[in-house]
Amino acid sequence: MASFCDKYGPLVYLRLGNVDAITTNDPEIIREILVQQDDVFASRPRTLAAVHLAYGCGDVALAPLGPKWKRMRRICMEHLLTTKRLESFAKHRTDEAQSLVKDVWAQAEKGQTVNLREILGGFSMNNVTRMLLGKQYFGLESAGPQEAMEFMHVTHELFWLLGVIYLGDYLPLWRWIDPYGCEKKMRQVEKRIDYFHMKIIEEHRKKKGKNDNIDEGEMDFVDVLLSLPGEDEGDGNGKQHMDDAEIKALIQDMIAAASDTSAVTNEWAMAEVIRHPRVLKKIQEELDVVVGSDRMVTESDLIHLKYLRCVVRETFRMHPAGPFLIPHESMRATKINGYYIPAKTRVFINTHGLGRNAKIWDNIDEFRPERHLPPNGDDNSRVEISHGPDFKILPFSAGKRKCPGAPLGVKLVLMALARLFHCYNWSPPDGIRPQDIDTTEFNIFLVTLGKSNMKLRIEA
Ligand code: HEM
Repeated sequence: MASFCDKYGPLVYLRLGNVDAITTNDPEIIREILVQQDDVFASRPRTLAAVHLAYGCGDVALAPLGPKWKRMRRICMEHLLTTKRLESFAKHRTDEAQSLVKDVWAQAEKGQTVNLREILGGFSMNNVTRMLLGKQYFGLESAGPQEAMEFMHVTHELFWLLGVIYLGDYLPLWRWIDPYGCEKKMRQVEKRIDYFHMKIIEEHRKKKGKNDNIDEGEMDFVDVLLSLPGEDEGDGNGKQHMDDAEIKALIQDMIAAASDTSAVTNEWAMAEVIRHPRVLKKIQEELDVVVGSDRMVTESDLIHLKYLRCVVRETFRMHPAGPFLIPHESMRATKINGYYIPAKTRVFINTHGLGRNAKIWDNIDEFRPERHLPPNGDDNSRVEISHGPDFKILPFSAGKRKCPGAPLGVKLVLMALARLFHCYNWSPPDGIRPQDIDTTEFNIFLVTLGKSNMKLRIEA
């Protein structure tokens, strides 16, 4: 589907079994869908994965547009992802950045190649779970190897199932036969994840029982959710607490939305930079000027690292966290570019194709961060890592469904990269030339993965 627009034009209509669908990689059409006609296109299809794996679409990311989504999204924006709340986790993020540097050192000191996927995955997961659940899964104060492994395993299965385009959503007969047992697998994962979430909630309830006055600054996301009132069901009498299913749906969303996206972006950025020693040199020159060699990078430096920010933009252009946005769905019939689009049309916005659209980018396969530098060498303008008015990249989407975690995601990505490039020199393992690093990709699932675990040698 990703290549259809190259063959057939900027807006392609598809009939997928019983379902009308469109796909596009064109900035103007994307702007029309996500901004001008946001009210029409901001819903989500009710897929089987969303039903089984997001508590009956009771979360934020997969919920259809409506009062329930609005309420859950408001909880995210007003209670969880506020600037103040995110600031209260700044110390945890600094600790994790420090552990990241130490973990690389520990592997390199033993003369091992560094397994970046493992290290970057642990960094993202720890940041997210410390903020969400108040516990670290990997490293010194970790939850324990068995729990961590089970957690990782079940979370990866969840990612996989959420990303897969399941034919049962389009062909009722396929659903009935379920030849590969996909829906059965969804039910199994649903059960295992639910058990896991229940345990987390119980642990937090026990903690709350022992100490009812947890300091606001020490509350993790689950503590916050447990303290919020439930839904007002229209009679003016809201429930005293949120339902467990609502809390579980939110925990699940945050883990799924936050950890893999930043880890995968970091992995691609590292691969591209190591493939281009010229870029690595420029990043390090900038770090020398902005940070110097007497201290570590801090979050307040990140805004000044213009070239590194261009590197991240270029990474998003070539390797967005997923090849498509999460599918949108139209609420009513409308027209785009004069073409009739029926109600309930599924919309696949091809962000991978947008970044490689030869009508808007030159030399599309060349990794060249400089293309994002402000025009005319304007030193005062900042390099934004989101879509600009031209919609030429779209890492966090736009409109009602845009990513509510973008500021945190940007911090996690920039911080990991800045620390790793500031502290170490990077080169491929012996016998591999930089230009031989494989940055082709296979986009089968929601998250874009590299072909192999990247292993690297460092020189301290
Ligand atoms: C580099 C990191 C990240 C990237 C690239 C990213 C990207 C995205 C994208 C492309 C979407 C889909 C938007 C659409 O369908 O139009 C999305 C949705 C979402 N993201 Fe992120 N994200 C990142 C980090 C985070 C973090 C850290 C959180 C929260 C802690 C988060 C929470 C969410 C949620 C809840 C949604 C669903 C929004 C809705 O449907 O209303 N994301 N993200």
